[in-house]
Amino acid sequence: MQAMPTEHPVQEGPATSFPKERIRVVLLEGVHARAADLLREEGFHVETHAGALEGKALAEAVGRAHVLGIRSKTRVTEEVLQGAPRLLAVGCFCIGTDQVDLAAARRRGVAVFNSPFGNTRSVAELTIAEVVCLFRRVIEKSAGLHAGRWDKSASGAHEVRGRTLGIVGYGHIGSQVSVLAEALGMRVLYFDVMPKLPLGNARACRTLEELLEKSDVVTVHVPDSPGTKGLLGRSELARMPRGSFVINNARGSVVDLEALAASVREGHLGGAAVDVFPVEPARNDEGFACVLRGLPNVILTPHIGGSTVEAQASIGEDVAGKLTRFVNVGATTGAVNVPEVDLPAQPGHPGRKHRILHFHRNVPGVLSRLHGLIAEMGANVSAEVLGTREDVGYAVLEVDPTDGARLAEAMKRVPETIRVRTLW
Ligand code: NAI
Repeated sequence: MQAMPTEHPVQEGPATSFPKERIRVVLLEGVHARAADLLREEGFHVETHAGALEGKALAEAVGRAHVLGIRSKTRVTEEVLQGAPRLLAVGCFCIGTDQVDLAAARRRGVAVFNSPFGNTRSVAELTIAEVVCLFRRVIEKSAGLHAGRWDKSASGAHEVRGRTLGIVGYGHIGSQVSVLAEALGMRVLYFDVMPKLPLGNARACRTLEELLEKSDVVTVHVPDSPGTKGLLGRSELARMPRGSFVINNARGSVVDLEALAASVREGHLGGAAVDVFPVEPARNDEGFACVLRGLPNVILTPHIGGSTVEAQASIGEDVAGKLTRFVNVGATTGAVNVPEVDLPAQPGHPGRKHRILHFHRNVPGVLSRLHGLIAEMGANVSAEVLGTREDVGYAVLEVDPTDGARLAEAMKRVPETIRVRTLW
């Protein structure tokens, strides 16, 4: 097997923790200021850029970074990673991580983090707002008034209190919607493929069909997967009561828009709210084509379910926290490309014990070689955790007592070593 690059940032300082003020964090793309504040409070050196960088400017910025923070525009390719010998971690201050070559990062022992749930509350709030707007036909009334039509009438407008909300997918967002809906006096049913603890008075349905037949409004909060593609199509929508509503703030593949449009046009469904589409414009100045355009009581939003200032701040806190724990204690909890390993701090004598963070090629015998080295030095492993993911293993060991500098040097000579850091 081809040798992997070996990088040992710890060499730059003593073989204990690298000085915090020399950890350089480079944040691009106007990552929320909350993240920079938290990372500075940690004592790191933080550099911020309002926009995305590319080419030489990106290479230079990443080349001096121990930690890189980006949003969705910066492409962290294998080539970019190659020019970044110090880089320990990449924080994607967003949901997706497609912009990073995750395998190339893993092969270099660079952990990549994101914030899959930082905007949960924002999506839940929009969903609740849409439930009310659909029952009251608010958008239609507003559009009429903007066009100069005064249409004061109670016809077709209802309270949501006492109505039944059906939630498909009772995960992070679905369960928050459940709590908010009950606060408005709605009855809540949910259907999930996994057993989920009902919150409040919500009740699980045994089948999707049961949920569809019993709900006045159905909202989907499932992931994009082969199992959820076209989850609500013509026959599913036909099961819903006449005049009921559908909300899709999840993913564009989940609801068949042709079937949805047909059902609204035929007057079976009373309306819908859709935030996500099978094909979405890549830029704000691109046009938007959709079979739902112009239909009555249909709310269309441009994939803004999670787009709030508060969500950006919460994503900033979440990712900054994950990066800080990785730098300070080696925890990879929430990493999307390397094994998730988290070893709680062990009791011991400060200055005598060390924490070793060891990324290595995932082949048999590495751990026993590490143990052999430690035993040769007369040291004791007081705690350790190992995780593997595809071609890479990650071991966190606490060793007591030993000379951290000598041990790190010895570990670097283990041929499978990708990267070793020593803390404390
Ligand atoms: P989650 O992973 O916490 O929950 C998803 C739930 O769906 C899980 O409980 C899972 O067991 C369930 N599920 C999976 N397949 C199912 C099926 N066939 N039938 C019923 N239940 C099923 O995900 P989270 O965070 O609640 O997100 C839900 C959706 O919202 C995702 O598709 C996500 O991409 C989308 N989203 C949309 C945003 C927007 O801006 N509109 C922002 C954030 C998330």
